Amino acid sequence: MDKSISVTWRSPANIALIKYWGKHDNQLPNNPSLSMTLNHSITETTVEINPAKEPENPAIHFTFEDQPNLVFESRIKNFIHSLKEFFTFLSSNDISIKSQNNFPHSSGISSSASFMSSLALCLCSVERKLSDSPMNDYDFYKKASFIARLGSGSATRSVYGGFVSWGLTNLIHDSSDEYATPIMDNIHKVFTDYCDSVLIVSSNQKKLLSSEGHRLMETNPYNKTKYNEAGRNFGVLLDYLKKGDENGFGRIVENEAMALHGMIFMSQPWHILMEPNTIIILDKVRKFREINGLPICFTLDAGPNVHILYSRKIKNKIKTFIEIELNPFCENHKWIDDCVGNGPVELKPLE
Ligand code: DP6
Repeated sequence: MDKSISVTWRSPANIALIKYWGKHDNQLPNNPSLSMTLNHSITETTVEINPAKEPENPAIHFTFEDQPNLVFESRIKNFIHSLKEFFTFLSSNDISIKSQNNFPHSSGISSSASFMSSLALCLCSVERKLSDSPMNDYDFYKKASFIARLGSGSATRSVYGGFVSWGLTNLIHDSSDEYATPIMDNIHKVFTDYCDSVLIVSSNQKKLLSSEGHRLMETNPYNKTKYNEAGRNFGVLLDYLKKGDENGFGRIVENEAMALHGMIFMSQPWHILMEPNTIIILDKVRKFREINGLPICFTLDAGPNVHILYSRKIKNKIKTFIEIELNPFCENHKWIDDCVGNGPVELKPLE
């Protein structure tokens, strides 16, 4: 290869409904997980490769929002080095990676999932451009999902739009611990444009890194029960997603969120990732549901911010509820209005 190649992908974040929490070997999950890919919360990454100036030591450059970022850079360098067995072009080319988010960093939306999936898609695109017999789309996305997983487990699901599963299960055809599987074909229409309002309770840096949280599961005495329950919840949720049962959906999704935080409470050492305002919001959501009989539920990531999930047809009512009752408990009254999205897109350079 003697020319420069540049590709850009825009990839969304995802929110897990059945949580991945606990892993083994090289980023393999201890239970199947299921997520909803978001629409508006995206990372855009450009990868440019050029023949290496020093062939024995190809350079890796990384900028985040046009600034060098030493914290991310060393993680990304290690990641790129580890990928040489999957992408031969990495051994003979300098690589420059530029990335930016359209949502605030540390806003409670996982940027590692959107970033790692956009990076994996860029690397697969470069490979496809260099190949004499390019991969078909099915293999292309499968490889991107596999590579994204090596960067961050939850990123494996962000390679696809809609609802996505990850992890071996006999309930999903073509499922694997190594890559995710899109399951949009089996989803009732009430869920296909579901809304996710992300209430920012705190935008402080994460108190517990995911990698540490996964590690703490190894010694958590309740770990086996948790993995079994997640597997059972996965099957039940899948059924509700097919049937369009929003109340059932809410029961499982809230149980998964609370079980995640329960595990975090019971880790040694323990952590509390909710803030007082998180608990106030959860309580208000339950009361609102009971009083109004509307199917609205919440989920949480490993942090204090609350994702409120509901169908588009009740959006106006829920927006009013958020603005009046929940917004005072958000940091700087901030919340993000998102929904199910179609997944990553490649941005072609203007001709
Ligand atoms: C609570 O994917 O961030 O968001 O594989 O170590 O990068 P690593 O972990 P990460 O863990 C995500 C945990 C979670 C649940 C989920 O997204 O399924």
